[in-house]
This record gives sequence, C-alpha cells and structure tokens, in this order.
Amino acid sequence: MLFDNEKFYTVLARPVIIVTTVSSEGKVNAAPFSFCSPISFSPPLFGFSCNPAHDTWANIQETEEFVVNVASYELGDYMHILEQKFPRGVNELEKAGLKELPSRHVVPPRVEKCLAWIECKLVKDLTIEMGDHIWVVGEVVCVEVDDECWDGVIRADKLLLHISGKYFAQEAKVTKYKRAN
Ligand SMILES: Cc1cc2nc3c(=O)[nH]c(=O)nc-3n(C[C@H](O)[C@H](O)[C@H](O)COP(=O)(O)O)c2cc1C
Repeated sequence: MLFDNEKFYTVLARPVIIVTTVSSEGKVNAAPFSFCSPISFSPPLFGFSCNPAHDTWANIQETEEFVVNVASYELGDYMHILEQKFPRGVNELEKAGLKELPSRHVVPPRVEKCLAWIECKLVKDLTIEMGDHIWVVGEVVCVEVDDECWDGVIRADKLLLHISGKYFAQEAKVTKYKRAN
C-alpha cells in the first residue's frame, strides 16, 4: 500500500534512547529519542535528531555533553512521563521516579534500568535547511554495558524499540546469518 510520505519513519523500528543532559546551572534533563544512529567507527561518533525547541538541545548548547542511555523494555511504562514537556529545569527522572547513576567521563548522569550507557561530548551540530530537526553529533568518550544485558552481543530481547506514537516493539531475537567475511 502507498503511504503518507511524512509517516515514512513508522516503517522502521528504532531503538529508544534516553538522552540525559545538564544545563549550565547543573540542572538535569532527560528525554526519549529514537531518531538516532552510530555514524563513525574511528573516531567513534554517535548522532541523534533533536527538535531545536527541546530542553535537551538548549542544555547541549550550554554544556556540550550528553549521555545516550539505551532503554530496556522495562522503561516502556515510563515513556509517557519522560516525553512530557515540563518547564526547563525540571528533572524528568525525578518525575518518573527513576534513579540517576554517576557517569564516568561527563557530568550528565546515567539512567538506571538501561542496557548500556554511551557518554558523549558534542563535536558538531548540523541543521538541514529544509528540515525541522538538528542532527547532534557526539564523540563517544565512554561506553559501558550492563553485564546481564550482554551475551556476546547486546541482549536484543531486552531492547525497547519505537515505531510511532504509542507503538513500541520489544522482545527482538538475536539470529546469526552468514556473512561474506
Ligand atoms: C519513544 C520516543 C521517541 C522520541 N524521539 C524523538 C526524536 O528522535 N527527536 C525528537 O526531537 N523528539 C523525540 N521525542 C519527543 C521528545 O522526547 C519530547 O518532545 C520531550 O518532551 C523532549 O524533552 P526535552 O524538552 O526535555 O528535551 C520522542 C519521544 C518518545 C516517547
């Protein structure tokens, strides 16, 4: 069936990340994102697409650090709180009753119940003139995975994926296929 072009992203299931940042005053912010991707091996770079009106973007401009918290499906029930537009300075993790964990190389905290944590320092932000989001690029300065969520590869059965709106996917299965090398 032919589809509404502006809904193109709903034909892809994307991993949910919670991006944590701090303002110049040290106030913590957390918000879910799913327009995201690794973009370089060496140096290791990670990108995500952020609406410029978001507090996340305001904080990144001020302090140039963020943590990509890879969400587990256990966090599905928290999305409706984390995605709310609270006034700037309100900590969504407190609103959701989620614990902060200390990061190793950046100031923004990690979030509990996540599978992995990717600590990043801003290297670039790209505005596509005709687009409505900013592509935020960070250099990965530390990455850590919860031992229980690692089985040679990330435990895909624990990932939370986003489709659109209230629709998420979970319980993905790891399968090994033949590769050329
Ligand atoms: C699962 C999920 C994925 C989302 N993905 C994005 C995204 O990729 N880019 C974006 O700008 N907003 C995204 N949002 C919306 C933001 O999380 C939401 O607008 C939030 O209030 C922004 O918070 P902030 O102003 O504290 O940064 C997503 C929301 C949910 C629930």
